[in-house]
Amino acid sequence: SDIEKGTYPHYMLKEIDEQPAVIRKIVQAYQNESGDLTIDGNIISAMGAADRIYIIAAGTSYHAGLVGKQFIEKMAKIPVEVHVASEFVYNMPLLSENPLFIFISQSGETADSRAVLVEVKELGYKALTITNVPGSTLSREADYTLLLHAGPEIAVASTKAYTAQLAVLSILANVTATSLGLSSTIDLGHELGIVANSMDGLIDAKEEMEAIAREYLSTTRNAFFIGRSLDFYVGLEGSLKLKEISYIQAEGFAGGELKHGTIALIEDGTPIIALATQEAVNLSIRGNVKEVVARGANPCIISMKGLETEEDRFVLPVVHELLAPLVSVIPLQLISYYAALHRDCDVDKPRNLAKSVTVE
Ligand code: AGP
Repeated sequence: SDIEKGTYPHYMLKEIDEQPAVIRKIVQAYQNESGDLTIDGNIISAMGAADRIYIIAAGTSYHAGLVGKQFIEKMAKIPVEVHVASEFVYNMPLLSENPLFIFISQSGETADSRAVLVEVKELGYKALTITNVPGSTLSREADYTLLLHAGPEIAVASTKAYTAQLAVLSILANVTATSLGLSSTIDLGHELGIVANSMDGLIDAKEEMEAIAREYLSTTRNAFFIGRSLDFYVGLEGSLKLKEISYIQAEGFAGGELKHGTIALIEDGTPIIALATQEAVNLSIRGNVKEVVARGANPCIISMKGLETEEDRFVLPVVHELLAPLVSVIPLQLISYYAALHRDCDVDKPRNLAKSVTVE
């Protein structure tokens, strides 16, 4: 490939490390001369005119969409549905009167997402594509495009595209909220700066992440990720990352859902990676950890500073609560990376997978 790994053993590690720079690049790319974050007025008008937004994506981009829904609903107060592209085409929900479609796709070439785009354009609706690849199919065929500015992502496991998607979605939500005159806006440029700095610190914590991977994941058959609200969505992404490169059967669950069945799988030593970055659910997620520990699980709690307790394995630096997914995902990416290494897996090119899935 033209893109060099440099001194890195794998593209995935290089791309994980690039994340703070990507966030800074995005802030720069979306700033106007006065330093305010801004988005093309046509896109903001389309957002403001929509009575409901439908986010369509697959895999990691779908997981970014789940977080993006929270950004848009909490900041811009527009209802959002998030759909897996491959389900949407054949099982379309009843649409609102003035829908806006947002396609999230790193490659801009995912066939399942394209099939939905073709369908909604035929129905006469507007579409915005958020992609890393200018000129990609999903970008060309949509009405509007927002770029991720993440640079080429080579590793099959998506890392920097996910955090870039979250950053761009937060900007879209916040700028829309500002244009609607809502008070739910935040000083996003400043907050994303804090995120980038916090990412720097996490990327320097590689030894700790390798130790966690060794301790929890070097021989296990399965692993569970739990969290509530935003942490749940990050857990879904963490579990996808882990399963695709380490082949450990990993599943993400809402903290409260495990006890409705899956807790039957907990055995002595089953690793449970729990995220605790959200104040409103801090006590309840810790309650869920106690439930699984009582069945023998081996808990690895990753919390955010200010919410931590003595039992936590790793404490993340404080960022704005809504933006916590941008930092909490980094330990999960690194833990997955080291778990795959310890298990002698091909990190950059896992079996059975292609970088972009261009068949339906
Ligand atoms: C991510 O680690 C995966 N390899 C995969 O889920 C990916 O996110 C999915 O195929 C969607 O790709 P896209 O963002 O290029 O549309």
